[in-house]
Amino acid sequence: MSTIDGPATKRPFYMRGNYAPVQKEVMAVDLPVVGELPRDLNGRFFRNGANPPDGVTPSHWFDGDGMLHGIRLRDGNADWYRNRWVRTKLLAGEQRFDPDTFDFDLSAGRANTHVLRHAGRILALEEGSFPHEVSPDLDTLGPTDFEGAVTTPVTAHPHVCAETGEMHFFGYGLVSEPYVTYYVADSGGQVIHSQPIGTPTPVMMHDFAISRNHAIFMDLPVVFDLDVALGGGGMPFCWRPDNGSRVGLVDRRKIGNGVPVETRWFDIDSCYVFHIVNAWDEENGNVVVLDAGRHRSMWDGSPDAFEPCYLWRWRFDLRTGAVSEEQLDDMEHAFPRIDDRRTGLANRYSWAVTSRPDEPQIIDAATGVVKYDLTSGSSTFHDFGVGRSASEPVFVPSDAGEDDGWILSFVYDKTDQTSQFVVLDAADMAAAPLATIALPQRVPHGFHGSWIGDEY
Ligand SMILES: [Fe+2]
Repeated sequence: MSTIDGPATKRPFYMRGNYAPVQKEVMAVDLPVVGELPRDLNGRFFRNGANPPDGVTPSHWFDGDGMLHGIRLRDGNADWYRNRWVRTKLLAGEQRFDPDTFDFDLSAGRANTHVLRHAGRILALEEGSFPHEVSPDLDTLGPTDFEGAVTTPVTAHPHVCAETGEMHFFGYGLVSEPYVTYYVADSGGQVIHSQPIGTPTPVMMHDFAISRNHAIFMDLPVVFDLDVALGGGGMPFCWRPDNGSRVGLVDRRKIGNGVPVETRWFDIDSCYVFHIVNAWDEENGNVVVLDAGRHRSMWDGSPDAFEPCYLWRWRFDLRTGAVSEEQLDDMEHAFPRIDDRRTGLANRYSWAVTSRPDEPQIIDAATGVVKYDLTSGSSTFHDFGVGRSASEPVFVPSDAGEDDGWILSFVYDKTDQTSQFVVLDAADMAAAPLATIALPQRVPHGFHGSWIGDEY
């Protein structure tokens, strides 16, 4: 971390425009609604992001302190909006690494990447530490190691199996093997399985996937660089394509007797993936399908070098060991989401942030939300307009159909530097928003969020 100085134009992109942090925690009640909030949309929409406090410029976009933004909806009303930093040890000025003892405090993290609920607990997550539990009012309750069952950092992207309610997650370490550890928590939140995944080098593994039968790990060549880490500056990962790119499958059906399940690896073409869309099994379980956002490379030569991301599909044939790779769409996208009731099962639809047609980039450009129909191969686009940018689109179901529901997102308007909360009809993306709520302060571009419904 360093202190901000110099004119705003000299600051890194993540400290300018709507990437810049806000410095006030606010609360507003009974927010006016333009349009009509669905009366069945009862719960809380929470979203996390990096938001360093005043006077601090992180060395990377991903290293800002976590701030949660939340809006409470009930019976067609917007009861409140509030934003709160996650009260971590790092926010309080403590260090996570002790250079004298080489101890790394896993209870100290940024908690800035995702927020989700499992087994009645709401967790703010960032992949370098334990999750931090927060209350339904966004107060920080503290870090959790799952009653001692977790001994590594925890990914910001756990996946909850739609059929079992289990939360599958992993953690990756950087200095000693095992570099990746896989965990399964049952539907009650108790960790019932953990095992190492045999990756030979320490890589940044941001996300993974589950199908009904498999957990799916991506060992991709964004490799930990100890020299950069010890030098004390910058993102300590580098693009090293000679490290290889491969995908590992762990058979979930073999989990349960306390013995680690072997990982079966498949080589793929060089790439990087931040975000999985989904995975599922086909052909009587003999083929595993994986959809994800694929970058041709990542941080090649610079920690701010982001290659565009496109929707790709991989197919892994368990009978022959063959892999096929296919680009499904030519629009740049980010932050893909599905109906979470399809996690691990074949999905027809997904939603993601994408560029406006006249602004073919996502960072610092206006964006809309694309809905992919993976059965027909078509897509539809919701355009929020010139200068307006969407955050991750979160799907909330209203009925049994896969697109019966709503898309929720925070939208930023560059022209007056304000933010709104927007509800779209997930089945009719071209339609005007069902409801728009002006927020009392700007919501910076952040990362991931969830709908925390009142129904359970
Ligand atoms: Fe992510």
